[in-house]
Amino acid sequence: MQITPRQFPATRMRRMRADDFSRRLMQETHLSVNDLLVPLFVQEGQQQRTPVPSMPGVERLSLDLLVQEARELAALGIPAIALFPVVDAAGKTDLAEEAYNPNGLVQRSIKAFKDAVPQLGIITDIALDPYTSHGQDGIIDEQGYVLNDRTVETLVKQALSHAEAGADVLAPSDMMDGRIGAIRQVLEQEGLVNTRILSYAAKYASAYYGPFRDAVGSAANLGKSGKQSYQMDPANSDEALHEVALDLAEGADMVMVKPGMPYLDIVQRVKSQFGVPTLVYQVSGEYAMHMAAIEKGWLTEAAMMEALVCIKRAGCDGILTYFGKRAAQLLNQ
Ligand code: PBG
Repeated sequence: MQITPRQFPATRMRRMRADDFSRRLMQETHLSVNDLLVPLFVQEGQQQRTPVPSMPGVERLSLDLLVQEARELAALGIPAIALFPVVDAAGKTDLAEEAYNPNGLVQRSIKAFKDAVPQLGIITDIALDPYTSHGQDGIIDEQGYVLNDRTVETLVKQALSHAEAGADVLAPSDMMDGRIGAIRQVLEQEGLVNTRILSYAAKYASAYYGPFRDAVGSAANLGKSGKQSYQMDPANSDEALHEVALDLAEGADMVMVKPGMPYLDIVQRVKSQFGVPTLVYQVSGEYAMHMAAIEKGWLTEAAMMEALVCIKRAGCDGILTYFGKRAAQLLNQ
C-alpha cells in the first residue's frame, strides 16, 4: 500500500540543522575563552604540588609553580583567575587575624601575579573560612552563631589588604549583610576607586561545595555544622533577587550566582531583572561529578563543554570553572 502525505510541512526545522554552515549561522550562544575564569589554590612552600583527590586534574600549587600556571592561563586568553589559599593550622584562629596580614599568602600571591602577568585579572575571595579555627566564614559567639557586624569589620580589613596588594576584583563570598557597602566605602576612602567588587550575591548553602572544602582544608574544622544561617536555602528564588538588589545598591560591580548547573533559573531571573554583569560559579561538586564520570568513561569532555555552553545560555557573562584551562585549550583548537 502506498502512503501519500496529505500535506508537506512548510517549515522544516531540520533544514537549518542539515549542514555545519547553517548550524553555525543559527547558533545563538557562543562560548569563548573570554567567558572563562579559573579558580586556583595556592599553598605555602617551593615546588609543592598537591593533588586534590576529589577534584581530578586540580592541584594545590606553591606560589612559584602557580605563577607559571597563571602565565599559561593568560597565554590561552583566560581573562582572570580567582585565588583561594590553603592556610596551615598556625594561620587558623578564632578571630581570623591572618586574613588581613599584609604579608599573608594571598597578599604575597597577588603581588607575584601582578609582577609576572600584569594583564591577568586577579579576583580574590573575601571570606574568613580559610582562617577560622572552626571553618565558618565569620567570627562566632559561644553558641557558634556567626556574628554579622563583627565579621564585616574583619572582612573590610581583609578586603583592604587585598586591594592594597593589587587585587583587581574583590569577591566577598561570605554572605554577611552589609559587607558590600562597608567594603565599597573603605575603598573609596582610600582612593581605590577602580577596585571592582564581584559579590557572591546569590550563594546557596549547597552540598556541592564538598570537594572545595577538601581542597582548602576547611572540611575537617567545619565538621557537621553547616552554613545555613548565612548562605541561602536552595529552595528559594525571590530571595536571590532581593540579595542582588541590595548588593547592587551597596556598590557591587558584578554579581555571582553559585552553584551553577542546578541554579540556571536563578541566573536567568537575575540577568533579566537587573541586566548587570552576572557570573556563575560552576562549583567543585559539579566539576567532581563530571570528572568522575569522564574518568570512568561514562561521559566525555563534550559533556563538560555542553554544561558550560548551557550555563552561558542562561544569560551569564562569565563562568568560574575548574575546567577553564582545558576548555580554553579545546576552544583554541
Ligand atoms: C568559602 C567559599 C566556598 C566556595 C568558594 N568560597 C565554600 C563554602 O562556602 O563553604 C566553594 C567553591 C566550590 O565549591 O568550588 N567562602
